[in-house]
Amino acid sequence: MDDVLAYLDAEHPEPHPLILELEQHGRKDGVSNVARATARLLATLVVCMQANRILEIGTAYGYATLWMTLAQPPAGKIWTIDPDIERTTVALSYFQRAGEADDIVISNQSALELLPMFPHRNLDIVFIDAAKTEYRAYLDLVLPMLKRSGVIVVDNCLLGGRVAQAPRKDDPPEVVAMRDFNSYFLQHPDLDSTILPVGDGTGIGARVR
Ligand SMILES: C[S@@+](CC[C@H](N)C(=O)[O-])C[C@H]1O[C@@H](n2cnc3c(N)ncnc32)[C@H](O)[C@@H]1O
Repeated sequence: MDDVLAYLDAEHPEPHPLILELEQHGRKDGVSNVARATARLLATLVVCMQANRILEIGTAYGYATLWMTLAQPPAGKIWTIDPDIERTTVALSYFQRAGEADDIVISNQSALELLPMFPHRNLDIVFIDAAKTEYRAYLDLVLPMLKRSGVIVVDNCLLGGRVAQAPRKDDPPEVVAMRDFNSYFLQHPDLDSTILPVGDGTGIGARVR
């Protein structure tokens, strides 16, 4: 599998220099960026949907945000949530250097505090990448904010493959939560969903009603 990923990476055009710098910055500081393959998939979705209105839960250093903002049409907007101000300060510095800071709104609150008051609707894409035990609650809160045919993208659906293994008594809460979330997401009556073995497991669900 590593050979396949290396082959695919080599065949794609080189990412934007700031994206390459941010990958190294995250590695150096031990801050986890979403996998490049997932970020690339997100950017392709942004382009094909001409996604102007995006909500991200879990900014960190803004790696996925940067991929998405660079793929957005000129009037595009991204609202991104992360309570960790140190991390989002780094993210903001990259958005500024990319000339995209005016199109990105960072909120330093926990998502479950902010989402019940989040005023925007008709979202094209919601990207969920924060506290794994809260994913089900995020989904319930953001679904009404998504336009019909809008898409929810979810990172870490497989957690390094542990989610797909037989359940054990000592499974960490994140693994238990993601098993529950995946069933809920895939069987949700308002979504047409799938989970791909891309990155750490990428869920994609289109709102159908
Ligand atoms: C895996 S990182 C996000 C990676 C990022 N999306 C990227 O593109 O690389 C997860 C982030 O979620 C944030 N987080 C944790 N709990 C959260 C919460 N309750 N609400 C919003 N963000 C949260 C963490 O501070 C962390 O920076």
